[in-house]
Amino acid sequence: MKSNTLKSSSPSVKMSALLSQMTLEEKIGQLQQSAYFSTVVTGHVVDHSGTIEAIKAGRVGSVLSVHDERDLKMLQKTAVEESRLGIPLLFMFDVIHGYKTAFPINLALSNSWDPDLVERVSRGVAYETSHAGLHVTFSPMVDLVRDPRWGRVMESNGEDPYLSSLLTQAYVKGYQQDDLAQPHAIAACVKHFAGYGFAEAGREYNTVDVSERTLRSVVFPPFQAGIDAGVRMVMTAFNVINDRPATANRWLLNDVLRDEMGFQGVIISDYTSTEEIIQHKVATDTKDVAYQCFEAGLDHEMVSQTFQHHLKELIAEGKISEETLNERVLRILTLKEQLGLFDNPYRNFYEDSAQYMLLETTKALAQEAVEKTVVMLKNDDALPLKPKQTVGLFGPFIESQDVIGEWAALCEKSDVITLKQAFDQAKHPYVLLDETTLDTRSRELDTIIVALGEAGSEAGEGNSKAKLRLSASQEALVKKAHQTGKNIVLVVFAGRPLILTELEPFADAILYAYQPGTMSGAGLYRLLSGQVSPSGRLTLTFPYHEGQIPVYYNHLNTGRPFDHARPEYRYNSRFIDIPNEPLYPFGFGLTYGQFEYSDVFLSKDHLREDDTVKVYVTLKNHGSHGALETVQLYIEAQSFSVSRPVNELKAFKQVYLDAGEEKTTVFTLTNAMFKAFNIDMAWTTEQRSYFVKVGPHSGALIARTVQLT
Ligand code: BGC
Repeated sequence: MKSNTLKSSSPSVKMSALLSQMTLEEKIGQLQQSAYFSTVVTGHVVDHSGTIEAIKAGRVGSVLSVHDERDLKMLQKTAVEESRLGIPLLFMFDVIHGYKTAFPINLALSNSWDPDLVERVSRGVAYETSHAGLHVTFSPMVDLVRDPRWGRVMESNGEDPYLSSLLTQAYVKGYQQDDLAQPHAIAACVKHFAGYGFAEAGREYNTVDVSERTLRSVVFPPFQAGIDAGVRMVMTAFNVINDRPATANRWLLNDVLRDEMGFQGVIISDYTSTEEIIQHKVATDTKDVAYQCFEAGLDHEMVSQTFQHHLKELIAEGKISEETLNERVLRILTLKEQLGLFDNPYRNFYEDSAQYMLLETTKALAQEAVEKTVVMLKNDDALPLKPKQTVGLFGPFIESQDVIGEWAALCEKSDVITLKQAFDQAKHPYVLLDETTLDTRSRELDTIIVALGEAGSEAGEGNSKAKLRLSASQEALVKKAHQTGKNIVLVVFAGRPLILTELEPFADAILYAYQPGTMSGAGLYRLLSGQVSPSGRLTLTFPYHEGQIPVYYNHLNTGRPFDHARPEYRYNSRFIDIPNEPLYPFGFGLTYGQFEYSDVFLSKDHLREDDTVKVYVTLKNHGSHGALETVQLYIEAQSFSVSRPVNELKAFKQVYLDAGEEKTTVFTLTNAMFKAFNIDMAWTTEQRSYFVKVGPHSGALIARTVQLT
């Protein structure tokens, strides 16, 4: 290794000293991310031929998607021993919901409403990822979503900015663990800045046109939460946002992200999103691309090489300054330093990293996550299963291992525990049914479990879908099973909310499993058998019909809201052929308990600026099973200087109640909970009257009134 003369100095001095030794080419090199051995991503075949030479010449700052231990070692050795300054490379990868152990997809994880679980899961993910020698994960994806047609809702935290912000912080803490130099930590990257979740019609990479108020109220908060938690990287979005591509958007990257939000880490583009601004029709050639993206504030370019090819010339022409370039380079070097790479560029390279993967403790955590993220959408006394009673197992997903979801890094389907395997392991008697044996073999049975779903490859990037029902053949299976007269328990695996309106009447119980990952069957079996009660709550609304989309809980009221007393009245905001309400609203999810909410009252009916008000609610579990209930608190401004949503989630508490138990839950209202962007775009309260609402989900709330004074 070339001697590093900078070892003993303090971090910034050390990096500044290193910077002062760098040539212009080497500086520009730090801004380049190259892909290696990732054959085809987003349709671009990556040519690796020049990569090694480029590393030797100091023209590569980081490498994307390399994960083979030998390759990692070889590439790092090349950088450290054969480049002039021996600056180590950063290795980055999309580890979104598991590296080798697949955890439930992120949308499912958000159903837990449990930041502590999400933090422990991301620690588990960081453990495997760091032991594979990787330094940065492109996670969490914190795009606010309202459109299940978009395939990437599977990576998101759902539709609520408050909940998503809490979960974003949990991800960042779990990955980064407060000190990146720790051996089990990796750097996190919040993405995609910004607005990608609002792609028109849910069509991938499509235009985004949203108001500044929507951006500030719902799109930006999770990013701010990530920044407040110390996230080291932000990725730009592919889309045009309000007529400027996000990757070349100075207002977004400089004015908002740097100046307002205070982000000091690295801003990276998305995969070739720099040169795509030519397709967006704001640049004519790659030099123009480099100029515009650099000017906007981009630090690190993923895969495209416009900086590489044009920054030197742009500096010579005086169009951009070397000083600004220096700042960008320092950010990359600082991240390397924070990860401890100047002390040990080979951190976490093992001869055999397999020994750190799929550990029993990691799998136990993955199973816990399954148990806490599945949502029970219906239960007419069909669940839990009666102990050891023989059940029928029917449908294509009973034995399917295609439940790890997209972005599963190196997780393998073959490691998945299927539903059938879980019944085997539990020695729970069952009969495997198919269409020919359904009628005859099910005669003695009480219950048939029908497992259906969409293939993993139907969700994720590039998989926008206009028709959100299960295939006709799968729907037919449910109807056929229903004809047997048995209890039908539907288990649905999917990367997004599907339209279950037609199917719902044919099922006595529905468990929505999303894509639960490696421990799928094991966790589901514990829920089905009642060893643990379902507790997941929806974070993304389930539409009644595709025609309602976007349908989300925190919408405005309209001037002529639908009137249930006059459903046929023509001049109200409604559809003539479908209801306004979704099939299942935000926050919805059943348990094996039966909770009654009563005695909702406030300690005071007014709230002064420096004061607090308590909200009390009594919960009683009338059921015969203990269960975890997620008590939700929303507010609604009765008036304000701008229209505000009919409900805004402001707090929630998870309370476990044994059968027959009663407990009082207390929330504390503060002035800050009532703030919004007012007519002048100032984040403030207004002294007005507000509803404070408490209940089990956004569609069933008990309201009280408080006056801000
Ligand atoms: C995705 C990003 C991802 C990147 C690198 C892109 O296509 O939009 O989310 O991090 O690829 O794999």
